[in-house]
Amino acid sequence: MQKNIVVIEGDGIGPEVTRQAIKVLNAVAEHGGHEFTYKYCLMGADAIDKTGNPLPDETIEAALNSDAILFGAIGHPKYDNDPTAKVRPEQGLLKLRKSLQLFANIRPVATYPALQHLSPLKAKVLEGVDFIIFRELTGGIYFGKKETSADGSQATDDCTYTREEIERIAHLAFRQARQRKKRLTLVDKANVLETSRLWRKVIQDIAKEYNDVKVDFLFVDNAAMQIILNPKQFDVILTENMFGDILSDEASVISGSLGLLPSASIGKGAALFEPIHGSYPQAAGKDIANPLGSILSAAMLLDHFSLHKEAGRVREAANWTLQNGFVTKDIDPVNFYFTSTIGELISDYVGGKIPGDIHKENIELRKSTII
Ligand code: IPM
Ligand code: MG
Repeated sequence: MQKNIVVIEGDGIGPEVTRQAIKVLNAVAEHGGHEFTYKYCLMGADAIDKTGNPLPDETIEAALNSDAILFGAIGHPKYDNDPTAKVRPEQGLLKLRKSLQLFANIRPVATYPALQHLSPLKAKVLEGVDFIIFRELTGGIYFGKKETSADGSQATDDCTYTREEIERIAHLAFRQARQRKKRLTLVDKANVLETSRLWRKVIQDIAKEYNDVKVDFLFVDNAAMQIILNPKQFDVILTENMFGDILSDEASVISGSLGLLPSASIGKGAALFEPIHGSYPQAAGKDIANPLGSILSAAMLLDHFSLHKEAGRVREAANWTLQNGFVTKDIDPVNFYFTSTIGELISDYVGGKIPGDIHKENIELRKSTII
């Protein structure tokens, strides 16, 4: 299989975690006789520094012509505390989502027994948690009309949804539910918001086509609470853009480390894969960030190419590192391994150089071991 992948390393820890995912993709390609070619493009604070534009036209062009995009992270503290900044890194990502019509953001939330002690939730609440969030990504308040009055004393963000925008992501979510535990929860604020009432109406209509899927509805404030109280109850959560942004960060801590969660954004053409963590500027360049979010995003990319066996192998390798204590500083602040070491271990495993039954004590690390 021959595929063209656009790589956007982005800001902060983006470049170093993305490089590990590329190592793993290269191991998959070599092992399976595939050919992945990479085109490196700019976006975010990095692009502003180099070109003055958070999303240069060449990046949009390359992304539109690619089979998939692997993206690192976006954001820089110098923009976060300056509400007057006219050009912001995040504008790049939002524009890319819109240009590629990436209307569905998919964020799986799983738990790992080896990391249970890091989760803020009790072990018995964590057992068997496995759900997936479908977040609408190109509509709602993120993309509504934005205005500030001439004297600067009033600001407005409009929130609009159309039936068509809701339907297209709803079908994806229902189809996914069918392949899982056949439960779908719509999260909205239908007791207050008109857009939420439209979401409810559309989902009630579509549900008739998916009789085998059990549908329920939760207000977002209650959902935020239920995710912590009883996360096991969820299978597929479907929600609008901003609620999805907030709930997916909340859900990410369940697994024990934000550094672990991957995501896929899909739409009509090329799909984009990125870890859900941010740019973590304090760790940038130190080789300490957790590359698993990026590596597991690469696994989602492989699934997108229908390379399911290979994707499974990458997940197996990631689990193997966790089970054997090959973990980064966010997981074990004392006995930790470097970002690049984890990338090497996982690519070696995927390339068949490490047998699955071998344990930590029998592995001699070539470099960067600091314990
Ligand atoms: C995310 C991020 C983005 C969002 C930011 C960086 C614009 O938080 O992907 O969840 O709000 O969508
Ligand atoms: Mg977010």
